Amino acid sequence: MSLFTHMSFVLFLLLCLNGFIQGLVLGVYEKQPDNEGIRLTEAAAAFDSSISGKLSEMLTISGPLLKKGKSRTFYGLHQDFPSVVVVGLGKSSTGVCGKENWDNCKESIRAAVSVGCRQLQDLEVAHVEVDPCGDGQSAAEGAVLGLFEYDEFKTKKKVRVTTQPYGSVDSAAWQKGVLYGDGQNLARRLMEAPANHITPTAFANTIEQKLSPFAHKVAVHKRPQCWIESEQMGAFLSVSKGSEEPPVFLELHYKGSLDSAQPPLVLVGKGITFDSGGISLKPSSGMDAMRADMGGAATVCSALVTAAALKLPINIIGLAPLCENMPSGKANKPGDVVRAKNGKTIQVDNTDAEGRLILADALCYAHSFKPRAIINAATLTGAVDVALGSAAAGVFTNSDWLWERLQKASIVTGDRVWRMPLFQHYTKQITENALADLNNVGKYSRSGGACTAAAFLREFVTADHWAHLDIAGVMTNKDEIPYLRKGMSGRPTRTLVEFIHFVQNSDLFSN
Ligand code: BES
Ligand code: MG
Ligand code: ZN
Repeated sequence: MSLFTHMSFVLFLLLCLNGFIQGLVLGVYEKQPDNEGIRLTEAAAAFDSSISGKLSEMLTISGPLLKKGKSRTFYGLHQDFPSVVVVGLGKSSTGVCGKENWDNCKESIRAAVSVGCRQLQDLEVAHVEVDPCGDGQSAAEGAVLGLFEYDEFKTKKKVRVTTQPYGSVDSAAWQKGVLYGDGQNLARRLMEAPANHITPTAFANTIEQKLSPFAHKVAVHKRPQCWIESEQMGAFLSVSKGSEEPPVFLELHYKGSLDSAQPPLVLVGKGITFDSGGISLKPSSGMDAMRADMGGAATVCSALVTAAALKLPINIIGLAPLCENMPSGKANKPGDVVRAKNGKTIQVDNTDAEGRLILADALCYAHSFKPRAIINAATLTGAVDVALGSAAAGVFTNSDWLWERLQKASIVTGDRVWRMPLFQHYTKQITENALADLNNVGKYSRSGGACTAAAFLREFVTADHWAHLDIAGVMTNKDEIPYLRKGMSGRPTRTLVEFIHFVQNSDLFSN
């Protein structure tokens, strides 16, 4: 360590000891072949001139220019900011990329800001000012998503970092980014939480509590088992009866539109708080991940909470059948036949294909609200992970209108979707091999598993605009998404929120 860096570090420590722990994250673009020197963002340039060019001087002498996502930390540059992290944003000119189906600029900002904020969190800096990098929303998302860590059950927790934009910024955009990030983090928290803590009842209570600030526009119904029975949701009950934990059918009404009679958008989420597979028991290795099998419920409920926080002028109903899938003397047995709410009978050949059973009844019920559109999200099949991995959620839809808007939304958020087929080919495979109207698994069991599951759900849909998002592949993050730490991803909450944002004033949702 050079004498200068050493002294800076001592200064940094002294400032920290004084309780003045504040950090700054700034962006720098990658050098273009035709320009010389450093290309700072507007905010970084302003900071640089406030300290007479010291930052660019330090950047030049401290080594090669920063590549995208790489960072360098400087101590003692400015008395208000004992530590400053400069992060590479990549090339400044790139925007929406047709091949990648996302906005390179936004993704770079999210990634860079998250790197910078985490760096400062590791230094135990409790308050961070963030360069909006010309896009306050993406910067705020990067900060809020990047700093999230699930440490509810750890005695030693990471420093809680508060963030605010540095310099001039469109504060509405920043605030919107914070809400988008918070929404996804709520879904992450619910998904990551152990199944003995997030039971169906605890899930419903958590969402109810999150919606309490918006009580004037929101109604929450936590439907108990007797209600589920009276609704004749035989498919849902056949799954829940294997567990000691009582099921809950969570029903949320958000009345955002001035016209309270406006037909709603109905969001439906698979809410299996633990999927052991039931009698068709899963292998024990990795089974703990099945605490996140309520990811559909978590993302749609979090999207509804976020829509309420953003005061979006649209009516939304959120539905989540919540239960465990467990083996027991009362559990579904392979070959059992059950009857769904719409009267269709289902042979349950594999008790591990339980998501489609609980969604069948929830989709039937969704139609009772005469919705303009129905979107369901479910960690439904391992097969969609085989098909797409964690790059995108698989979308199966009967509506080009919905597809177009979901895809557009996902380009903005970077949390991508990819369209999958709903051919009759797959429908045949779940109708031709049953004692009943339907079989819960396709007759060529593994082939096209995500598609046969979607074909099964379609048997419970009569709405003109319906989309099923199979989110099993995007359920977890290892290191693919740089601005999410390892763990449950909360994807695609932001895409759902952005979609709602898009359609709130569309022809379908205005009268
Ligand atoms: N919850 C699982 C799907 C899943 C797998 C989600 C991996 C997340 C990660 C679902 O209930 C399930 O078990 N599906 C079976 C269906 C099969 C029995 C037809 C599967 O994918 O193996
Ligand atoms: Mg299963
Ligand atoms: Zn499942």
